[in-house]
Amino acid sequence: MDSATVEIKRGLEGVVFTETHLSAIDGEAGQLTYCGYDIEDLAAQATYEETAFLLWYQRLPATSELEMLSNWLRSNRRLPKVVWGIMHSLPESATPMEALRTIASTLSMFDRACIHEEVGGSSLCRSVSLTAKLPTIVASFDRLRGDRPPIEPRDDLGHAANFLYMLTGEEPDPASAKALETYFVLLADHGMNASTFSARVTASTLGDVYSAVVTALGTLKGPLHGGASQAAMEQMIEIGSPRDVDEWFEKRMARKERIFGFGHRVYKVEDPRAKILREMAETVARRSGNTQWYEIAARLEERVLAHPYFDERRIKTNVDYYTAPLLYALGIPIDLFIPMFAIARIAGWTAHVLEQQHDNRLIRPRALYAGPRGVEWHEMLDRSPMVEAQPDAQCVAGRPANCPAALQVPPRFWPA
Ligand code: CMC
Repeated sequence: MDSATVEIKRGLEGVVFTETHLSAIDGEAGQLTYCGYDIEDLAAQATYEETAFLLWYQRLPATSELEMLSNWLRSNRRLPKVVWGIMHSLPESATPMEALRTIASTLSMFDRACIHEEVGGSSLCRSVSLTAKLPTIVASFDRLRGDRPPIEPRDDLGHAANFLYMLTGEEPDPASAKALETYFVLLADHGMNASTFSARVTASTLGDVYSAVVTALGTLKGPLHGGASQAAMEQMIEIGSPRDVDEWFEKRMARKERIFGFGHRVYKVEDPRAKILREMAETVARRSGNTQWYEIAARLEERVLAHPYFDERRIKTNVDYYTAPLLYALGIPIDLFIPMFAIARIAGWTAHVLEQQHDNRLIRPRALYAGPRGVEWHEMLDRSPMVEAQPDAQCVAGRPANCPAALQVPPRFWPA
């Protein structure tokens, strides 16, 4: 295998590694479907529970089936007692995403409800358990870090309304609950995105659902993926006012920095979810009486889309852009934006894990080796250091191990 015979697909762009029956994206037509249903229809009419049913069973539920699944989810919302001890012992510096990843991982050791399920059934049981518990973890962590007691889930509320209730202690108005529910439906699945792919890689090793979800949580966090909505909101806050958008945009362009909330590997026209989120962000902002963030978002979007740099590259508004002012207007703290994405995407991640398990083949791509070959072995004493050793008190055995300054030099062959 050499560079003359192998075409490298950087970032696996355009590589198709499996079939899926879950969601389909048409990046040229700007269409997204879940199991054949258009996202606009689902956003307008389906609940999150109904969407999870659709992804897990690949068909819409009848009334009695939805009721059974809703009850199954509701009965799984509470966290095991032992997990509370761990929640309380998290350091103050823990971010919501670190807390979510840690607690989701911890849950695998206390997954009593699923242990007696038959093989095959147990992965679905774990999927239900995690889907039900993620909102409880996020809302409870937010309350604990603010010295407020966590709030017990309410079994009479739907998935989105219950989350807002656990976060604020107040039953949300129906419009806010519906807006959040629609957001959850819109983000429930999205083809072979980075976090879903990573979940499938873990599942393909016959790793369990918890491991796959923890893998996905780690992948989601980066600002090129799920972290983009938080980064988009930080941009809007940095801008501060609609009249300062133009100056901020010019400076950003001059510094050649990315603008978060724009661009997509697959969509070359507007992401169909962005249209729905834009309308919802405006409605929620107008209802709240504060349109500042929506106005900043709208003005910045106007500038971005009109600029030849973005036009030439076919960079359009993505899902994360209007998610930012929408969640902000719903009173969700900015650093909960990525966990919100996870709460929505868990249905898709777990559906993909189930699909991978159903027809598994180990996912194991290759890389073209580009390093040196046939290098002669030198004894330790014959090797010269790249930098002279420096006395570093932290490196004395038994002391806390900091990374020694002398080793913090990147290897020669890494680009600066
Ligand atoms: N702002 C400025 N330039 C951009 C942007 C952007 N938001 N997005 C892409 N570009 C430029 C990029 O600099 C490159 O330019 P050039 O060809 O001159 O080097 C060109 O467009 C192609 O970019 P790329 O990174 O090679 O393309 P990609 O397919 O890997 O990009 C992306 C996809 C999402 C990583 C990228 O558009 C991006 O970084 N966007 C900002 C982050 C963001 O909003 N992420 C959320 C993605 S959607 C939801 C999700 O998947 O979670």
